[in-house]
Amino acid sequence: MELNKAIKERHSVRRFTSKKPKYDDILEAIGAANSAPLAGNIPTLRFVLVSDAEKINKIAEACQQDFISQANYLVVVCSDSAQAVRSYGDRGKMYARQQAGASIENFLLKITDLGLASCWTGAFVDSMIKQVLVIPDNVDVEAVLPIGYEMPKAGKQRKKTDLSAILFFNKWKEKYMKPWKKPEAI
Ligand SMILES: Cc1cc2nc3c(=O)[nH]c(=O)nc-3n(C[C@H](O)[C@H](O)[C@H](O)COP(=O)(O)O)c2cc1C
Repeated sequence: MELNKAIKERHSVRRFTSKKPKYDDILEAIGAANSAPLAGNIPTLRFVLVSDAEKINKIAEACQQDFISQANYLVVVCSDSAQAVRSYGDRGKMYARQQAGASIENFLLKITDLGLASCWTGAFVDSMIKQVLVIPDNVDVEAVLPIGYEMPKAGKQRKKTDLSAILFFNKWKEKYMKPWKKPEAI
């Protein structure tokens, strides 16, 4: 799929059919997630692929979102920021979280490209997910990504804020691009 099409077609899906996604497709999407830019190329990202139905149900409970349990697979995205913090101090923690976001978007676009569907899920009780997946204390759980085939007509792309309201030029709140002027000759 062309990039523009994937960007346009990606949307959050919360109703999946029972058809099982191909394992190779999921690995491809995790590969796309792992291609995100990383500060200093320090590998903070970790992924847990969950196929165990009992664990999927427990994670749905941790999210208090039933639709998660319809998925045959979940990818739980985590960050281990220790090495980034050693290199960048407190900013390392922020970088780890930002690059998790970049990686999640890569993942969602690849999932769309493959004809699959997902939903970035960020509301959950961290400790419950950590307990189910035996994730150590020093690792942050960033998102739960259920994967499936979209139930027909389950959703469509939501309208986004008009660019004119959020794009500024050269200065905060400046709404217009001033024509470029050649600097005065000295
Ligand atoms: C950080 C973050 C957390 C989110 N958490 C949830 C969530 O817990 N449950 C959910 O159903 N959707 C969640 N979403 C999805 C948003 O609701 C969704 O992206 C938004 O409504 C826009 O719709 P679209 O993704 O179809 O463009 C989350 C999205 C982001 C970026």
